[in-house]
Amino acid sequence: MTSIFAVLTALLLAPCEAAPAKDQCVICHATMGDAHQAILKSFSRDIHREVGLSCSSCHGGDSSSDDPGKAMSAEEGFIGAPTKAETPKFCGKCHSDPATMKKYNPSLPVDQEVKYFTSIHGKRLQAGDAKVAVCTNCHTAHSIRPAKDPSSTVYSKNIPQTCGKCHSDAKLMASYKLPADQVAKYTGSVHGRALLEKGDTAAPVCNTCHGNHGAVPPGVENIGHVCGMCHAHNEEFFEAGPMAKAWKKRKFHICATCHDHHDIKHPTSELLSTGDGICRKCHPSDSRQVKAAGIMKAKLDEISDSYLAAEKSIQAAEEKGLDMAEARDLWDGARMSLFQSKTSVHTFRPEKVAEAASPGIEATLKARRSADEAVREFGQRRVGLGIASLFLTLLALGLYLKVRDLESGQS
Ligand code: HEC
Ligand code: HEC
Ligand code: HEC
Ligand code: HEC
Ligand code: HEC
Ligand code: HEC
Ligand code: HEC
Ligand code: HEC
Ligand code: HEC
Repeated sequence: MTSIFAVLTALLLAPCEAAPAKDQCVICHATMGDAHQAILKSFSRDIHREVGLSCSSCHGGDSSSDDPGKAMSAEEGFIGAPTKAETPKFCGKCHSDPATMKKYNPSLPVDQEVKYFTSIHGKRLQAGDAKVAVCTNCHTAHSIRPAKDPSSTVYSKNIPQTCGKCHSDAKLMASYKLPADQVAKYTGSVHGRALLEKGDTAAPVCNTCHGNHGAVPPGVENIGHVCGMCHAHNEEFFEAGPMAKAWKKRKFHICATCHDHHDIKHPTSELLSTGDGICRKCHPSDSRQVKAAGIMKAKLDEISDSYLAAEKSIQAAEEKGLDMAEARDLWDGARMSLFQSKTSVHTFRPEKVAEAASPGIEATLKARRSADEAVREFGQRRVGLGIASLFLTLLALGLYLKVRDLESGQS
C-alpha cells in the first residue's frame, strides 16, 4: 500500500522541468510517517515545486541516491532542517542572490533578507531571541504561495491572522511589555472592515504600514507619511496648517493623536464638539481654537443635513414616478463638496471649511427645491385631474338618464 502511494506521490511531485527523473528524496520520504506525508502533501502546492525546484534545492543532498547515508550526507551538501536562527540565510541562499532569482523571475526583489535584519524581528533574532518571526513564520516552510494567491499566508486578507499568531498571544507579548490587541482593534477599524468585510484592497493591512520585511513601527516622523500615502490631502492640509510645527516639536503623531492607529473609527463632526470633542484634549473650552471647532462643526452639520434632506425630497419625487435626473446630478455633485469640506477640517480654519462646503450647500438646496416643487405640481395636477374626471362622470350619467328618458318615451 505505502509503496503504491510512494510511487504515485513521486510521480505527482516529479519536477516538471528536465530534472532527475527520479527524486529519491520524495520516493523515500513518501514511505515514512504522518509528519512526512503532511510535508509532501503541502509541498505539492508549493511555489518552489511549481517552478521545478524540489527538496534538495533547499535542503541540499543528492536526490539521485536511494541510500539515505549518501543522499543526506554532509559531503553532498545536505543541510537538513534549519533552526530559526539559520532560516533567513537558508532562504536567502537564493532570494538574496540576483543571479539565481533572475533565471526564474527578474522582477522579484532580492532584498528580503537584508531588510529583514533591519526590522525589530531581525535585530532580536540576531541578539539570540528565537520567539520573533523568521521567514517561515510568515510564509510557512512547505506550502509557500506567492503573495497574490488568495490562499497565501501573506495574501492581504490573511495577514492579520498571520501576524496574530504571535501578536494576539497575550502571554508571549506580555513578556515584551507589548499590547496584544492590534489584530482585534484593526479588525474592527474602518480599514479592517473595508478590507476584511467589503474586500476593498485599497485599505491598508499590517504590512502596508509596517513594511513586509523591514517590520518596524513607523516612528513619529513617519506616521503622517504612512497615512498620507493614501490620504494625501489630509496630510498636506495638516502640514501647511497652524499646528504642524508645534506638534513636531512635541512629538505628537500628526494623525494618530486624533484618529488612533489600529482602532481608527469613522470620524463624525462630534469630534469637533465644543463640549467633549478632540480639540478639548489640549485647548481650554473658552479658547479661540475650540470656538473655531464649533464653527467648523456647525458648517459640516449644515452641509450633511442639507445633503440628507435633498436626498429625501428627491426620493419622494421619484416614488411618484417623476423624472429627477437633473436634481440627482446636482445632488451627486454635492457629494464631492461634502467630502472636501470634511477633509478641509485639517486646515483647522473655519473659513476654509465654509469655502469647501458652500457649493455643496447651494447645490443641495437647489436640488431639494426642485424636487419639492415637482411634488407640489404633481399634487395640483392630481386635483385638476380629479375635478375633470368627476365632471366627465356626471356628464355621462346625465347622458345616460337622458337616453333612458327618450327610450321610455318612445315605448
Ligand atoms: C532512503 C530514505 C531516504 C532518502 C533517500 C532521503 N531521506 Fe531524508 N530522511 C530519511 C529518514 C529516515 C529521516 C529521519 C526521519 C526522522 O527522524 O523522523 C530523514 C530526515 C530528513 C530531514 C529532516 C532532518 C532534520 O534535520 O530533522 C530532511 C530535511 C530530509 N530528510 C530531507 C531529505 C532530502 C532533501 C533528501 C534527498 C536529497 C532525502 N531526505 C533523502 C530518509 C530518507
Ligand atoms: C523552500 C525550501 C524548502 C523546500 C523546497 C523543502 N523544505 Fe523541508 N524544510 C524547510 C525548512 C525551512 C524547514 C525547517 C522547519 C520549519 O521552519 O518549519 C524544513 C524542515 C523539513 C523537515 C523536518 C521536519 C520539520 O517539519 O521540521 C523535513 C523532514 C523536511 N523539511 C523534508 C522536506 C522534503 C521531503 C521536501 C521535499 C518534498 C522538502 N523538505 C522541501 C524548507 C524547505
Ligand atoms: C513578518 C512577516 C514576514 C517575514 C518574517 C518575512 N516575510 Fe516575506 N513577505 C511578507 C509579506 C507580508 C510579503 C508581501 C505581501 C505583499 O506583497 O503584499 C512578503 C513577500 C515576500 C516575497 C515576495 C517578493 C517581495 O519581496 O515582495 C518573498 C520572495 C519573500 N517574502 C521572502 C522572504 C524571505 C526569504 C524571508 C526571510 C529572510 C521573509 N520573506 C520574511 C511577510 C514576511
Ligand atoms: C533554491 C532556491 C530557493 C530557496 C532556497 C528558497 N526559494 Fe523561495 N523561491 C525561489 C524561486 C526560484 C521562486 C519563484 C520565483 C518566481 O517564479 O516568481 C521562489 C518563490 C518564493 C516566494 C513567492 C514569491 C512571489 O512571487 O510572491 C516566496 C514567498 C518564497 N519563495 C519564500 C521562500 C522562503 C520563505 C524560503 C525559505 C524557507 C525560500 N523561499 C527558499 C527560490 C528559492
Ligand atoms: C513568530 C511570532 C511573530 C510573528 C508571526 C510576527 N511577529 Fe512581530 N514580533 C514578534 C515578537 C516576539 C516581537 C517583540 C520583539 C521586541 O519588541 O522585542 C515582535 C515585534 C514586532 C514589532 C515591533 C513592536 C515594538 O514596538 O517593539 C512590530 C511592528 C511587529 N512585530 C509587527 C509584525 C507584523 C506586521 C507581523 C505580520 C506581518 C508580525 N509582526 C508577525 C513576534 C512575531
Ligand atoms: C494604518 C496603519 C497601521 C496598520 C494597518 C497597522 N498598524 Fe501597527 N502601528 C501603526 C502605528 C502608527 C503604530 C504606533 C507607532 C508608534 O507608536 O511609534 C503601530 C504600532 C504597532 C505595534 C507596537 C505596539 C503597539 O500596539 O503600539 C505593533 C506590535 C503593531 N503595530 C502590529 C500591527 C499588526 C499586527 C497589525 C495588523 C493587524 C498592524 N499593526 C496594523 C500603524 C499601523
Ligand atoms: C493603503 C492606503 C491607506 C493607508 C496607508 C491609510 N488609509 Fe485610511 N483609509 C483607506 C481607505 C481605502 C479607506 C476607506 C475605507 C472605507 O470606509 O471603505 C480609509 C479610511 C480611513 C478613515 C475613515 C474615513 C471615513 O470617512 O470613514 C480614516 C479616519 C482613516 N482612513 C485614517 C487613516 C490614518 C490615521 C492612517 C495612518 C495611521 C491611514 N488612514 C492609513 C486607505 C488608507
Ligand atoms: C486635531 C485633530 C485631527 C488631526 C490631527 C487629524 N484629523 Fe482627520 N479628522 C478630524 C476630524 C474632526 C474629522 C471629522 C470631520 C467629519 O467627518 O465630520 C476628521 C476626518 C478625517 C477623515 C475623513 C474625512 C476625509 O477627509 O475623508 C480622514 C480620512 C482623516 N480625518 C484622516 C486624517 C489623517 C490621514 C490625518 C493625518 C495627516 C488626520 N486625519 C489628522 C480631526 C483630525
Ligand atoms: C494634542 C494636542 C492638541 C489637539 C488635540 C489640538 N491642538 Fe490645536 N494646538 C496644539 C498646540 C500645541 C498648538 C500650538 C500652541 C498654541 O498656539 O497653543 C496648537 C495650535 C492651534 C491653532 C493655532 C493657534 C491659533 O489659535 O491660531 C489652532 C487654530 C488650533 N490649534 C486648532 C485646533 C483645533 C480646531 C483642534 C481640534 C480639531 C485642535 N487644535 C486640537 C495642540 C493641540
